[in-house]
Order: sequence, then structure tokens, then C-alpha cells
Amino acid sequence: MGVQKERVVTDKARPDDGAELSLRPERLDEVIGQQRVTENLQILIAAAQGRNEAVDHVLLYGPPGLGKTTLAHVIANEMGVNIKVTAGPAIERQGDLAAILTNLHAGDVLFIDEVHRLGRALEEVLYPAMEDFALDIVIGKGPGARSIRLQLPRFTVIGATTRLALMTAPLRARFGAVFRLDYYELDDMEAIVRRASDILKVSVEQDGVTEIARRARATPRVALRLLRRVRDFAQVRVDGIVSGSVARDALDLLDVDELGLDEIDRRMLRSIIEKFAGGPVGLDTIAASISEEADTIMDVYEPYLLQLGFLERTSRGRVAARLAYDHLGISYPEDSQHSLL
Ligand SMILES: Nc1ncnc2c1ncn2[C@@H]1O[C@H](COP(=O)(O)OP(=O)(O)OP(=O)(O)O)[C@@H](O)[C@H]1O
Ligand SMILES: [Mg+2]
Repeated sequence: MGVQKERVVTDKARPDDGAELSLRPERLDEVIGQQRVTENLQILIAAAQGRNEAVDHVLLYGPPGLGKTTLAHVIANEMGVNIKVTAGPAIERQGDLAAILTNLHAGDVLFIDEVHRLGRALEEVLYPAMEDFALDIVIGKGPGARSIRLQLPRFTVIGATTRLALMTAPLRARFGAVFRLDYYELDDMEAIVRRASDILKVSVEQDGVTEIARRARATPRVALRLLRRVRDFAQVRVDGIVSGSVARDALDLLDVDELGLDEIDRRMLRSIIEKFAGGPVGLDTIAASISEEADTIMDVYEPYLLQLGFLERTSRGRVAARLAYDHLGISYPEDSQHSLL
């Protein structure tokens, strides 16, 4: 890794995870925004409670940092059950998954993060477990082998993924409730910044709240990270109070622009525009041209640029939209071929 610059805006929050924990809403009514999802969850939970059953399996998908893990914990809290946390890449063998499943108690939540990365063999264990609460175990080898079926308690799988398209259809079909998390509206982002600054005891003026919310890529995790960095700046450079101009100075220094784009976003757009005449250009080619992983671009950078309307995805590759030219201050080639797209 070496001397890579810290990516304030876009990386997954590993180093800050501990700090994030205390900021994580625990109950449904503390969850800000995502109203359609929370209303549906509220019904799902109340109905299951009314019938004294486990909640149906829930699949949460959407870009990183929008609250999938948070909601999984909220569901378990609201149900008053235990949550076991694992992730697709963390489970290697069928036996590992069998061990996890046989340790579950009735009603428990099994949270599987990055559920699209479960291997085929593991999915096969999961199908009967989710559908019939049964575990098929093969005993012996060769012609004498036989399979016995173990009954499991009724439990809930909550799956989370940033890449719904990579999930197999049979696995997807086993989730009774599927919700997409969307980017947050500005007023929800402001509410998230305000709530976090109360918990962290940072004094932030309204303009400061707005400034952070606006530059946080409509993503709560980014807002929380920017808030911490702005707090540091305010503490070291001024009197600790985050006014609008303090927030602006801090965020400018971090290279986070008015729309929340960082250096990598801008490098990517600039590369499409300047090296590939605005596109269409394939994702792998873009990735190579800016030395980033194609997966990271697809998971982390691209969704927000698509959301902003800066980028378009066509069958022949990515195309930079006029808005991207405007944002970067590059004049848009009126007669270029992609204006025909
Ligand atoms: N609706 C919300 N209201 C308040 N805070 C939120 C909300 N959603 C997320 N957060 C905050 O944002 C942080 C990131 O959310 P979370 O870890 O749940 O995202 P995620 O969707 O699981 O991301 P990833 O795909 O990277 O795993 C959480 O620590 C939480 O504090
Ligand atoms: Mg998560």
C-alpha cells in the first residue's frame, strides 16, 4: 500500500468501523430516510411478531455505506433475537456453513454480508436451509454413501450485497423480502450529520451541517467520515466550532468538491473525456488508465457518478455526459458522435 493517500470519500470504512458502531441506529425509528424500506420492514417485523414466527428472509442491496449492515442489526434488535454475522468470502467449506447453521436458535438472524460471493457449493447448502429449514448431510463415500436430513430451527437469513446482478437467480428467489437502498435526500443527510454531531458532541452550525451533507455523496458513511475530518480541522485550526466556512475550508483541503467528488472521481471522468474522447469506453480500460480496480470503480465510484448523471452506461461502454464536462470545466464537443447516443 505504501504512501497511498487516505481516501476520505470513497473507501469502505474499515479503520473507522469502531467509531461507526456508536453512531449506528439501533431501532427502526432511529433510522433516518429510506422511508419505503423502513415502512415495509416495520410491517414485516410486526407481522412476524404477531404470529410469533421468525421474520422472512430479507435481502438488502444497494451501493456501499447506505445502511445495509445497520438495517440487518436493527431488524434483529426489533425482533429481540441474536444476530450472527458472516460474509460470503469468509465461509470456505460446506462444513463451516453447516456448523454456523446448526448453532442457530429459533428466530435468530444470520447476516450474510457480500452474499453474492458465496460459492456454488455453499449456496446448495443454503437452499434447503432457507426453504425447508433443513440441512442435508452426506455420510460415507462411494456407493454406500447416504444422505440424512437434519431439521434446523426456524431462523432468518439477512443477505446484503452491493452487486445484485452477481447473485444467482435461485439464491435471490429464496429471499421473501427484497429491498433496494437508495442514495439519501439532502434533508435526510442533514439529519444524519446533525444526529452524529450530537452523539460525538461536535458543535456544528446549520451551514456547516448543510456543507457536510451536500458533499457526502448522498451516503451516510461518507457523511460521518467527513464530519470527523471537519471536526479535526475545526479543533486544530479554529475554535472547534464548525461553521459553514470552516466546513468548506476543511473539505476543500481534503480535495472533496461541492458535489462530493474526490480526486479519483475526477481523474476517472477526465480520463474518459480526454483519453477516450468522452467514450464509449469499457470499464476495464478505464480502470487500467487510472490504475484502479474495475471492481472498486463499479462498486464505489460509478454508482454515484451515474446517480449524478455524469456518466452513462451503454452497451458499448461508459460515456461521459455533458454534466461531467460542465463540472470539470471542459467544453462539450457539440458535434461529437456520442451526442447522438
Ligand atoms: N439511515 C441511517 N440513519 C442514520 N445513520 C445511518 C443510516 N444508514 C447508515 N447510517 C450510518 O452509516 C454507516 C454506514 O452504514 P452501513 O455500514 O450499514 O452501510 P452498508 O450499506 O452496510 O455498507 P457496505 O455495503 O459497505 O457494507 C453506519 O455506521 C451508520 O452509522
Ligand atoms: Mg455493510
